[in-house]
This record gives sequence, C-alpha cells and structure tokens, in this order.
Amino acid sequence: MRHLEIIILNGISNVGVNSVGLNMRYLELKRKVQNVRMLAIQGIAEAGSGHPGASFSAAEIMGALYFHKMNHRPNKPDWEERDFFINSKAHSAPGHYATFAVAGYIPLEEIKTLRKLGSRLQGHPVRYSERQKEHSFPGIEYSGGSEGIGLSVAIGIALAKKRDGKKNRIYALIGDGESNEGQIWEAAMSAPKFKLDNLVVILDRNNIQQDGFTEDIMPLDPVRDKWSAFNWNVIEINGHKIEQLIDALNRVEKVEDRPSIIIANTVKGNGIKHMANTPQWHGKAPPRKHIPILLDELQSEVLIAPSIIAGERENYEEKIKKAERGGADLIHLDVMDGKFVPNVSFFADTIKNLRKLTSIPFDAHLMIENPVDSVQQYIDARCDVITVHGEVCNESDFLEINQMLLKAGISPGIALNPATPYPTWLDDHLNNIDVIIVMSVNPGFAGQKFIPEMLDKMADIGKILKRNNYKGFIEADGGIDATTLQQVFDAGARIMVTGNAVYGSADINSNIIQLRHKANVAIELKLLEYATLMDIRSDWIKSRKHILIPFAKEVGIEEELHAIK
Ligand code: DX5
Ligand code: ZN
Repeated sequence: MRHLEIIILNGISNVGVNSVGLNMRYLELKRKVQNVRMLAIQGIAEAGSGHPGASFSAAEIMGALYFHKMNHRPNKPDWEERDFFINSKAHSAPGHYATFAVAGYIPLEEIKTLRKLGSRLQGHPVRYSERQKEHSFPGIEYSGGSEGIGLSVAIGIALAKKRDGKKNRIYALIGDGESNEGQIWEAAMSAPKFKLDNLVVILDRNNIQQDGFTEDIMPLDPVRDKWSAFNWNVIEINGHKIEQLIDALNRVEKVEDRPSIIIANTVKGNGIKHMANTPQWHGKAPPRKHIPILLDELQSEVLIAPSIIAGERENYEEKIKKAERGGADLIHLDVMDGKFVPNVSFFADTIKNLRKLTSIPFDAHLMIENPVDSVQQYIDARCDVITVHGEVCNESDFLEINQMLLKAGISPGIALNPATPYPTWLDDHLNNIDVIIVMSVNPGFAGQKFIPEMLDKMADIGKILKRNNYKGFIEADGGIDATTLQQVFDAGARIMVTGNAVYGSADINSNIIQLRHKANVAIELKLLEYATLMDIRSDWIKSRKHILIPFAKEVGIEEELHAIK
C-alpha cells in the first residue's frame, strides 16, 4: 500500500520550550495547532480509521497545554517536575499524538503508523512500560479507552503530589459523552474533599457523543451548575480561542484549596467544515483522495482583524467589545506618530489600558520613526503581535527588535509600504517572523482606496516565502472590504485588517459577519478549484453538500448540486 507523504507547514520549531508567565507568541501557536490538525487527519486517512471529531475539538486545548502552559520536556518525558496531562477521552489520540509530534516527542513521520500493528501509536494510547515497549511511548501518562476513568487517575496523581509537597500541576481532559459515566461524578465529588488545587479538568464540551447529540442521549446541562454544586471552581470559555484557554489556565493557577474545571465550549470536527458538528464524523476516516484538499482547507483559515482607528476616533473600548462579539480574531492597533506617517493616533499607554478589557489578541502595527527606541513600551503593554516597518529598520535594527519580541513571547512582524520591495535579508530570518504586512494603501489613514497593484506584489512575495518554507502569515492592510478581501485571499493573505469596512457604518456585527461570509466564499471557491484539478469535483461537492448549499449561487454550483440530489 502506498503511504501518504506527510505534509505539514515547515519551519515550525518542534522543541517544546514552555515558560509560564510569557506571552504566547500567538500566531506561532496558531500555526502549531493547524499543524496538529493536518498531521492528525493524515494519520487517520492513512489508517483508514480513527477519530477526527474529538481530535479537532480538543486541538486548541492540547495546544495551549503542550505548546505553552505545561512544564514538560519532550526529550525527558519522565522528568520529575513535569506537569501531567491525563487524556481521559482517549479516542482523541490522533490529535494527542500529533500534538506530541509537533512538540518534538516523536518524529512527524511516525503519525502514519497510527493504528498499525506494532506501532506505538495505537487507536487508544498505551502508557509507556518496558513490557509493552512496542506499542506504548514515553509521554502518554495514562492508558485510555474505557471512558470515565482518567479523571480518577488524575485525582490519584494530584493527591500524591500534594501529599508529597510537590509543585507539579495535573491537567485532565474529559469529554461530555464520557460524562455519562458514574465514575466521573464520584471523582467530581472527591477532588474538592482533598482540596486539590493542583488539579485542572478541562471539559471538551462539543455536545456530540459517538452517534448523536449529548443532550438527546443523556442531557448534561446545566453542566456548569453541576460542577459548581460539587464545589469546583468553574470557568466557561470558547475552547477554540487559544487566548481564552491560556487566560483561563492562568486564572485557575491562583485558586487555592479547590480543584478547577474549565468548560471549553468546542465544535466537534472543528477545522474542516463538513466534519464540524456532525455526529457521523465522530469516528470516521476521510477518503485518502480528499487529503490534499482537507490540508488546504486547514491552511485557509482567515483571521479578521478590525482596525479601531477607523470610523469615530473615540470609544475604543466599545469598538473592541463589539468587534469581539462580532467574532473578530484579532484587534488591529494602528500606532501613528505623526512623523513616519502624517497622522497621530495613540501610543502604548492607551494600549495598556485597553489590554485590561479583553484577552483577544492585540495586533499592534507600529507606524513610528524609531521603533528600536520605543518597542519595549509596546512589549510592556502586552501586545500579542508587534509589527514594525521595513522602511525604518535595517537588518540589525530588525534583529534587535526581533530578539526582544521573541524573548517576551510576542509574535514578530514586519510591514512593507506599497513602494517598498521585499527586503532580501528577510530570507535569513523568516523562522522568526510570524507575520508580514503587505500594505495595500499608503499608511496614515483608514478609509483609503485599495491599490490594486498590491495584489501582484502580494502574490510575488507569497512565492518567495513559499520557496523559503515560511511558516507565518501574510496580512493585508488597507482598503480591505467585501470585494478586495476575496482578491487578497487569492493572493495569499490570511490575516485581513479591516478598518472602514467594519467601523465605517453602524452595524459592526453585521459588517464582520459579511466579511467572514466573503472569506468563506473565497475558501469554498479555492477548494472547489482544487477538487476540479484533482478530478474529484463531484465527489467533493457530494461530501460537502450541506456546507455548500447556502453558497451554491455565489460559487456557481447550483446545477451540480441539483444533479447530486
Ligand atoms: C493604514 C492602517 C490601516 C487602516 C485600515 O495606515 O495601517 O490599518 O487604518 O483601515 P481601512 O480598512 O479603512 O483601510
Ligand atoms: Zn494597520
């Protein structure tokens, strides 16, 4: 049988350095989680079986833990001081193995041995032991499969560590289907009795179990109240937002004398639209021929970054809140000093105040004359992404800034004005750059007209980056609206700064929804094109019918859909 060639985005450093207290280098973390999904789905397709649903609903949860929060050493899995991760919903194993691979525990290639005879990566993971050397591996703390048991194991470890006065923290992932098991509730009762504040449970609340919706099979709600009544500290978040996960994981560290549970609201199969929220994808492999398109979909995610200087120059707090509620992914902060650009907006002190409002990632675009002199202020203001302009930094300035950003755990970026060509010295530093802003207007003001020539520039830069295995994102900034968004998407941009298109009219919520819709149209068109190229167009449309129906007219497949019915 021919093996799939394992594809991931190159350049991701897979050595797990995890330092609590730093920012999270948000865009890199985002890419790592994308890589986890890519690896997991390839492993499942290669095996012809496995669980994409849970692997995908828990991808950010595991990513936030292994790529940021947990103290662990991929090259010394049994390190005494490590934090423990007990995966009680062990059928999410493909996602867990892929997380181990991206974190540097096992070679990426090994994912294609998933579920094979003699492999260490069994359908349900086996805790390492000498006796079972061939099908277990160091890193797996708990042999799972029978649901409902992992939480009790986690409690045992937490209790032992506490009694021994150790600092290790214990994280346990449980499922909502798994919560049907009585043992979960016996465990829930006991952890508060022992005051296990070193224990954090994360509930992957995706609302689906095996072959149906949890609330039909065995209603779990009001789940929050249930855990509160058992005397747990409860936090509820969106489990696909890395920033919310990390924020919650930081907050529970301060809780004393009680265990904590983070109810992570997730979508089963999240990442591949036709798998999302459909019980049939709980445990089914996609056909191998779909893999290239699925990988393309996973890399096509679009991040919308509203720029708060657009519209009225006030009420930044309200603007951020509204953008967040409308589903924005980042908040774009245009810092203008009146020298580099003929306009003044706000500086680090304003950002510092806004930071208290929200955990949504801040994407700071510094349009300032001497970024080396003042970048520290923006680091201190806890921006998540900081971009400086190529026109005001030479290679050595850039490197100085870059080192400061990396040290602080901030995603570094560089911005290029319309007239500025791609600086060739960037080639040597692409591993340390998470975003390249290709300006599509001359910077200084929101609401300007998009410069169409920038589409070719963006595509050309995209080619250079591809040749260099660039792992980061291209960001389009200036004049992005419902029309140009599709164009810059096709030219390779995946982060969209949107000023006027979001804040230029009153209904911020609908504006973001419309832009998101346009992004989805662009994605569907791209995937359809790919399916045509691969000669599986009708098969693809059939698998994705329920997603494509609402787009039928815009992507021009009404007749084809009709023929399938
Ligand atoms: C331009 C800024 C942009 C701009 C975006 O100097 O960097 O972020 O304000 O606003 P629109 O989308 O209105 O061009
Ligand atoms: Zn900007």
